[in-house]
Amino acid sequence: MLDSRSPALSTPARIAVVTGDAEFERLARSTFGGNAQINLDLTATSLAANVKFDVGDAKVVLVDIDADHPDEVAALQSLAARLGGGPPIVVVTKAFNESVARRLVQIRISDFLVKPVEPIELVRACARAAQSHPGETVTEAQIYTFLPAAGGVGLTTLAIQTAMMLMRKGQRTNASTCLVDLDFQHGACTDYLDLEPRLDLDEIEPRPERLDRQLLEVMLSHHSSGLAVIAAPSRPAEMRTFDPDMVTRLLDLVSSHFENVVIDMPRTWFPWTDSVLFGSNRLFIVTEMTVPGLRHAKQLVAAVGERLKGGPQPQVIVNRFEQHLFGPGLRRGDIEAALGDAFAGVIPNNYRLVREAIDRGIPLDEVKAGNSVTQALKKLVAPPAAAKNGSAAKDAAAPRLRALFGAR
Ligand SMILES: Nc1ncnc2c1ncn2[C@@H]1O[C@H](COP(=O)(O)OP(=O)(O)OP(=O)(O)O)[C@@H](O)[C@H]1O
Ligand SMILES: [Mg+2]
Repeated sequence: MLDSRSPALSTPARIAVVTGDAEFERLARSTFGGNAQINLDLTATSLAANVKFDVGDAKVVLVDIDADHPDEVAALQSLAARLGGGPPIVVVTKAFNESVARRLVQIRISDFLVKPVEPIELVRACARAAQSHPGETVTEAQIYTFLPAAGGVGLTTLAIQTAMMLMRKGQRTNASTCLVDLDFQHGACTDYLDLEPRLDLDEIEPRPERLDRQLLEVMLSHHSSGLAVIAAPSRPAEMRTFDPDMVTRLLDLVSSHFENVVIDMPRTWFPWTDSVLFGSNRLFIVTEMTVPGLRHAKQLVAAVGERLKGGPQPQVIVNRFEQHLFGPGLRRGDIEAALGDAFAGVIPNNYRLVREAIDRGIPLDEVKAGNSVTQALKKLVAPPAAAKNGSAAKDAAAPRLRALFGAR
């Protein structure tokens, strides 16, 4: 039962619960049943057996599914589509693993819990969902992920610049943008922007579920331009990885509060890498203009295609491009031949500009408005519908949500 420390839902609220599991039914009844502030509406069949499940005016919908069963996931999918921007859905699953994450990948849910669930966790998740969703229409975050084909190719520079561009573009429409540095070992986003990294991994890792909107606020760094940045102090001497749940939770939350999310990925493949890539709308592989650079990019395109069937098409950006009309060296035609359809375009070499921006902790456009790097990047990162590139247009036709990042 709820004790005085439990976060109570502020007004009497109807919670619609659907479950085919007698044990979870008992838990839901004992958790919410005796609470005067809550009107529990429990349907004791599985969602798949009750596809017309009516949530009425529920403030929160609690759905218990076995995510290993495709028909249950399909039923959840159609419920989420039916509710649209309606009440938030909290999902309870029997097991949570990578394949469950992938199944839930395209469904807009507010939160998920893994059985066995403690009553207090159930209350917290529902309260959080209800509070964070006062009925507004929510736009899906657009996630732009940058993956390096080699070290030092300029990935962080391009990720920062993309985030700045998206933010500026959005200023007319109040779009908000967050840059997330997932290069926990060697992250440089905050150095390049002259900010304090504020993400405290030691605090959230033991209990990722504690990460909520308030905690996220505390862990954001804010650039004077208006860009929000999530980055942890880099840990150059540490070889450990982090719990995939933590990374998923973090991105889930970030994408529920920002319209554009730009991710700076590390070169090493971690257990959470697949989910992050799979959840992205646009996936850019950044490389440099050398034979090994192109070879690595090509290998990475193949590896990503293999691992993420049905995921976003990787598009390769060749950074620090120099035109050689005569003499030795790679030419644009060589790049096109090497990368084929995956080739997105080139960014010119402009070391003085980039170095000055990094040293002063400011975006490139502030060093020189309309500079060559920003101009080239703008064309590559333009909204897919406006891009000429075929694979980008395909992305636009089928916007996909974003690992488990669809929470509100
Ligand atoms: N278009 C460019 N023209 C010239 N220099 C560039 C360009 N883009 C990046 N650089 C330079 O390349 C270097 C590496 O850039 P950056 O740190 O962004 O790369 P990275 O791929 O994130 O590196 P790391 O592997 O260390 O994370 C920096 O010195 C930066 O100034
Ligand atoms: Mg970097």
